[in-house]
Amino acid sequence: MEKIVIKGGKALNGTVTASGAKNAVLPIIAASIVGSGTSIIKNVPHLEDVTTMNELLIQMGVDLTINDTTNIEICADHITNPKAPYEIVKTMRASILALGPLLTKYGRAEVSLPGGCAIGARPVDIHLKGLEAMGAEIHVENGYIIAKADRLKGCQYYMDKVTVTGTENLLIAATLAEGETILENCATEPEVVDLTKYLLNMGAKIEGIGTSVLKITGVDKLYGCEHVVIPDRIEIGTFLVAAAATGGKITVNKVVPHDLESVLIKLRESGAEITVTEDSVSLNMHGERPKPVNINTAPHPAFPTDMQAQFCSLNAIASGYSIVTENLFENRFMHINELVRMGADITVSHNQAVIHGVERLNGAPTTATDLRASASLVIAGLVAEGISEIYDIHFIDRGYEVIEEKLSQLGADIKRVSY
Ligand code: EPZ
Repeated sequence: MEKIVIKGGKALNGTVTASGAKNAVLPIIAASIVGSGTSIIKNVPHLEDVTTMNELLIQMGVDLTINDTTNIEICADHITNPKAPYEIVKTMRASILALGPLLTKYGRAEVSLPGGCAIGARPVDIHLKGLEAMGAEIHVENGYIIAKADRLKGCQYYMDKVTVTGTENLLIAATLAEGETILENCATEPEVVDLTKYLLNMGAKIEGIGTSVLKITGVDKLYGCEHVVIPDRIEIGTFLVAAAATGGKITVNKVVPHDLESVLIKLRESGAEITVTEDSVSLNMHGERPKPVNINTAPHPAFPTDMQAQFCSLNAIASGYSIVTENLFENRFMHINELVRMGADITVSHNQAVIHGVERLNGAPTTATDLRASASLVIAGLVAEGISEIYDIHFIDRGYEVIEEKLSQLGADIKRVSY
């Protein structure tokens, strides 16, 4: 077992480089299933979730090799087992992204129904209703989604809620469907745009990229191609918040600043001096204590839910009151109890956390409960007085590439310890 040990109180300073985006590379690897021939995906982050997605495809019969540290080569021409088994799906919900590709390319798919996760029920009804609207025959048997279709047919489908993976599953399915599909109320996150660009490069016919209405004209065949994954805006935002919380001064390279505009606006509101170039973001807090900022999570381009926990840590030591409202997930405040154990003054009622900033947090042993909650505990440990230990850090490794190495690069006193 491993834990992260942090000696808090040091301002972060220096330069770090962003990794590829987890939530872009996962749908892109799944989408490679629909291509004939080989795809080369570049700037792939070293994350547990990526390893899991790779394993999911390999057990289907996909030829997948990691041809150097950040590139993978994928050829899905010889899939023998169009199935996503429970053992894998239970460790990573994004496995549901195999459903659309398998169904549209092979006419059948068996995908374990993802259960809920720590942050919420996370249903997939919109995914299934959309595929049924395209003519798929879908039923659930022994906890598995069994889907069949001779060939999916284009349709018009309005998604009741904005769902990133729902949009991605249906978009991929529509690329090989017969005729035209119009998807409405689509997610417009940068990761959806990156997937769309990959599909276009494979030969897909898609209009409306980056908007909430996607028009897809089905084709008979798609081809593997090269694709460079976009930088991870949530990893970047996490490092910027850590620098703001510790009063530091950092630059993050390999960034698409526009992708995290709503986060930069909130960091400026907290008192940070932000400078952007074409591919970097610099933050300077001038050693000042952050000002409190109110947060309202919503689909892109609004403030991302995946940055909510990190801002709770920032607000926990800010000079005043703030309100953080979580509008997407019903249980995404599990980091609050752990922050309170470190001396934070926060009360949660329904989907709102009222935070009264305190002068300082105290180091303590804490336990991670989900990916972004673990990031908020790291930030809290960096600002707290004394030693903090974070247990169950496998959550962190799912979404952050060697977080302790990158933070050490910025001067943090942080290490991973076996116990
Ligand atoms: C994606 O999850 C991200 N994951 C999540 O990132 C992110 O928090 C989320 O989008 C919101 O931005 C990936 O891209 C792999 P949802 P997604 O479950 O699309 C409702 C992280 O930390 N809904 O679709 O799977 C649902 O209840 C992770 O990196 C339905 O009702 O999110 C929720 O309220 C966590 N029916 C909302 O939509 C459906 O069929 C979005 O949740 C699907 C979704």
